Amino acid sequence: MNLYYSSGTGNSIAIVRELQKHLKDAVPLPIARHLGDDEVRDDSEVIGFIAPTYYMDIPDIVRDFTKKLSMKKNAFVFAVIH
Ligand SMILES: Cc1cc2nc3c(=O)[nH]c(=O)nc-3n(C[C@H](O)[C@H](O)[C@H](O)COP(=O)(O)O)c2cc1C
Repeated sequence: MNLYYSSGTGNSIAIVRELQKHLKDAVPLPIARHLGDDEVRDDSEVIGFIAPTYYMDIPDIVRDFTKKLSMKKNAFVFAVIH
């Protein structure tokens, strides 16, 4: 299970750490690491996004990343937007 996160002040990281306590196979992955990538492939069965609310929306960096992320057709996807 991969947990993609973006965090300005650390709250998303705190949430990722809390999720890791309960989801033992969770791998935290910073979205910023993929800024220069044109395409990202993830074949995980479960994918999570953890990011802050910016202007009652998701941050641009997160939206841009979801557009270039290719996932398995039947992947279970969830998001914690706070
Ligand atoms: C540019 C900006 C815009 C924000 N817009 C909202 C908002 O529309 N609604 C809200 O409840 N919080 C908003 N916040 C607060 C953040 O969503 C909140 O502090 C979040 O927990 C920060 O997560 P982080 O520490 O992972 O960056 C905003 C913060 C920033 C910096």
